[in-house]
Amino acid sequence: MTATVARGKFITLEGVDGAGKSTHHAWLVEHLRAQGRQVVATREPGGTPLAEKLRSLLLAEPMHLETEALLMFAARREHLDKVILPALSRGDWVVSDRFTDASFAYQGGGRGLSQARLATLESWVQGDFQPDLTLLFDVPIAVSRQRLAATGEALDRFEREQGEFFERVRQAYLQRAAQYPQRIRRIDATASVNEITETLRKIIDGFCP
Ligand code: TYD
Repeated sequence: MTATVARGKFITLEGVDGAGKSTHHAWLVEHLRAQGRQVVATREPGGTPLAEKLRSLLLAEPMHLETEALLMFAARREHLDKVILPALSRGDWVVSDRFTDASFAYQGGGRGLSQARLATLESWVQGDFQPDLTLLFDVPIAVSRQRLAATGEALDRFEREQGEFFERVRQAYLQRAAQYPQRIRRIDATASVNEITETLRKIIDGFCP
């Protein structure tokens, strides 16, 4: 008889482009590994060879907003099947830079795709499956845009959107946080990296003592 392995935890990081979540994603993965956990670090759209190909298309090619939503969820289906669900069943933890809240924020809030359409795709692709914990890095758009500009890197198709687009994305994220207060923790991402790290440490230690 084989012993039952406890399912791992699924943590996602969200926020507008330029909120600084990639820095904290790296810290969080290292922090959990230092606690002796097996951690899969991944991202969306992407995380598998096919989903990374879809990511390249999504970040570069102009397309209908429904095509964009369908490709996001197609990439997610692969990611769930090949990476996220197998890792959680092995007992590993999974830390993903973005997941479905990003579709509600960007394709819903940003582009205006209806909640009903998004909810249909969500239940088709993932049923009732949700992250155990979502960290929402929240900043005023003026700050996130300054940070993006300061990287000096070429901007992708989403990052080139106007400020009003990101205002709508931010508001949609905040609405999600209000709707799912147990799962989504809003983090003030205007704070310094060190302050945010301390906040994350407290949240994680409270989440898994
Ligand atoms: P991001 O993690 O910000 O990539 P990078 O830090 O390398 O720029 O994600 C890429 C973009 O994809 C981002 O602008 C948000 C967008 N996105 C959606 O529009 N919908 C989604 O469902 C997901 C997962 C991402």
